[in-house]
Amino acid sequence: MKIAVIGTGYVGLVTGVALSEIGHTVTCIDVDPEKVKTLSQGTPTIYEPGLEELMKKNMAAQRLSFTSIHKEGLDGADVVYIAVGTPKRTDGSANLDYVEQAAKDIAENITEDTIVVIKSTVPVGTNFHIKKVINAHTHNGVQVKIASNPEFLREGSAVKDTFHGDRIVIGAEDPETADVLAEVNKPFDMPILKTDISSAEMIKYASNAFLATKISFINEIANICDTLGANVENVARGMGYDHRIGPDFLKAGIGYGGSCFPKDTNALVQLAGNHHHEFNLLKSVIEVNNKQQVILLDKILDRFGGNLRGKRVAVLGLAFKPFTDDLRESPALVMIPELVKADANVIAYDPIAVENARKQIKENIDYTINLEAALRGSDFALILTDWPDVKEIDLEKYKQLLREPVVFDGRNCYPLDAVKQAHLEYYSIGRPNQTSELIS
Ligand code: UGA
Repeated sequence: MKIAVIGTGYVGLVTGVALSEIGHTVTCIDVDPEKVKTLSQGTPTIYEPGLEELMKKNMAAQRLSFTSIHKEGLDGADVVYIAVGTPKRTDGSANLDYVEQAAKDIAENITEDTIVVIKSTVPVGTNFHIKKVINAHTHNGVQVKIASNPEFLREGSAVKDTFHGDRIVIGAEDPETADVLAEVNKPFDMPILKTDISSAEMIKYASNAFLATKISFINEIANICDTLGANVENVARGMGYDHRIGPDFLKAGIGYGGSCFPKDTNALVQLAGNHHHEFNLLKSVIEVNNKQQVILLDKILDRFGGNLRGKRVAVLGLAFKPFTDDLRESPALVMIPELVKADANVIAYDPIAVENARKQIKENIDYTINLEAALRGSDFALILTDWPDVKEIDLEKYKQLLREPVVFDGRNCYPLDAVKQAHLEYYSIGRPNQTSELIS
């Protein structure tokens, strides 16, 4: 089939590449000509493992192309995907400006009846609104059918998730539209759930809200473990064996970040509120997460007598999680200003997110892409992202390179036994501290 994808962010680009990989002819449209130029050279504009290879392969097979001209991309398309951003407004609601613009661009450029699929995460009811926008702007009696096809891919494993996901959800206005989209998606070989449009829209928000709830729940348990001397990892393991609970998304740490959980949880609270429903549970999930992102600050200040004047801190990791250069809602964005406020000198390490960090972190700090250089001569280390090289570091390095072997670990990277053996002073999340008294 001939497919157009509007928007080449994480979702749009991965969707376009994946649809070309399963045999469709795909044109990705983006309003930014610079982006299109880069993509047309076979270079992804985002970091995503495995993406570049697939892009190049399908471009060479003439199944994948990029354009900034809507007419060119939409001409003759059987199905058009909208995959533009829906960023958080200041009140927490989803900003639909880009989706509406995409709808108008579709209406002005299609010449035949078409199916429009909304991939962007949008509040319940948006699909019908977008259909109206499109049909109000089309020419010559051209009509569209609308469908919701939310995505469940994770940044950093987006390609893998697209080909090995758990399900495909298609919310369509009629069975014929659902059947066409089921056919489009058939080669992914995944369970396909056909629903009404509103339910499909809600499945996306409810799934992200539930996963965020699991994380905030285990983080609260971690904080209680911390005061009781229990170990949250043992607790999570014990809970996870129960198949009704499951082991995933029970990893305690310094909270969730990224472009999705913070945005979607806020949008769902806002959406519920608009319909006179106080979503108190989700409000607490958000509040717990906001506190969790800075939970190590008190421990750090306690350890160093209330301020960090003259201390050099090696911050390990800036991205909101490993395998991405994305800093959106990353704990680094709140922790680094706090450290600087406490008079610390910060040197921040990240293997790929440093360039993005320079644009977003206002504070005057040093950056490095060399892990050992960050540690050398620093007074202590603070782990914010569980990058593999941080997890796999020889713990002796902390002793060799830091002025004192003190590590604050926001991602529970190391087994406590190993830390004890290495004689590190070590503070993590929801696990007994390895204080200086204990190691001396
Ligand atoms: C999330 C969902 O997992 C995807 O299913 C969804 O499609 C996507 O949002 C989206 O809406 O686009 P993503 O934000 O890329 O994906 O990343 P996750 O791997 O889910 O991690 C989110 C955050 O939760 C990270 O900061 C991670 O460190 C944190 N996390 C995750 C934990 O703190 N503990 C866990 O057990 C799992």
